[in-house]
Amino acid sequence: MSSYAITGASKGIGLEFARQLAANPANTVLAIVRNPESRDISSFVSAHPNVHAIKGDVTDPKSILEAASAAAAITGGTLDVLIHNSNAVDMATMALNPTQLPFDAEAIQSTFNLPFSTGIYGGIWTTNAFLPLIENGTQKKIVHISTGMTDVDFIKKTGVSYAVPYSVAKAGMNVVVAKYAAELAPKGIKVVGLSPGWVDTWEGEKPAEAVQANEFMLKQFQVAEPGLKGQIQPEESVGKCLQVIDRLDFESSGFLISHNGDRTSWF
Ligand SMILES: NC(=O)c1ccc[n+]([C@@H]2O[C@H](COP(=O)([O-])OP(=O)(O)OC[C@H]3O[C@@H](n4cnc5c(N)ncnc54)[C@H](OP(=O)(O)O)[C@@H]3O)[C@@H](O)[C@H]2O)c1
Repeated sequence: MSSYAITGASKGIGLEFARQLAANPANTVLAIVRNPESRDISSFVSAHPNVHAIKGDVTDPKSILEAASAAAAITGGTLDVLIHNSNAVDMATMALNPTQLPFDAEAIQSTFNLPFSTGIYGGIWTTNAFLPLIENGTQKKIVHISTGMTDVDFIKKTGVSYAVPYSVAKAGMNVVVAKYAAELAPKGIKVVGLSPGWVDTWEGEKPAEAVQANEFMLKQFQVAEPGLKGQIQPEESVGKCLQVIDRLDFESSGFLISHNGDRTSWF
């Protein structure tokens, strides 16, 4: 019997983690979402007695502390695995190269703000809020969902020069992971960054510009992975991520690991 808490479980990869974990009735699944009353979350929870939706905004320390208290009340103060998956970006500046970033203090801070507050500050607040539960858990695993876009060999090989605030925030997350792993190893806690692959989490029909952007990225990614056909589905990504989480040990703690279980295969 294991317990899992997933932030950003309202959609995409986070919801798929909750779905696959909920399929085992022996698991207790805590879906941390900003809006637990949403129709999709309410119907998911009512169809699965082992899933609990908990309100939590990772960019608000008070909110995430309250989420950890609510989780403790459900599990009796323990948690086996924390998956910090939440992320937000400023889509308007996602395509900018570093030379195109605004020469303006407020404007540049605002492009970095969303991925920093969800990925780094949110990752730290979520980890610290749930740590007392993890200390009481059996598996003692903390997973931060990061990306292979932070691998500088990959950036150099593919020429992916855009998505600067997103990649910088996730690279910072990788360092935060290593720091937590170093601090928490004596307590038997493993902390890892996990890249889920290139995953199609678009909801509904893709507009033409999103299709075009994907085709452009595919060509760049194929320089690193010539056989790459395109994005994978959340089912495949999360199935592989859960195998990596199951196998997580102190050798991989502190590193960024791919859904394939190594430190180089990002697709
Ligand atoms: N998709 C990919 O190809 C890919 C590749 C590499 C890494 N990743 C990483 O994988 C993770 C999931 O990606 P995805 O594609 O599933 O993303 P997504 O569809 O955009 O979902 C993001 C999730 O984060 C939540 N979120 C945003 N701001 C939040 C906040 N302040 N507090 C709590 N939750 C918040 C969203 O909740 P709301 O519904 O409330 O907005 C949503 O559930 C992210 O960390 C992403 O960077 C994805």
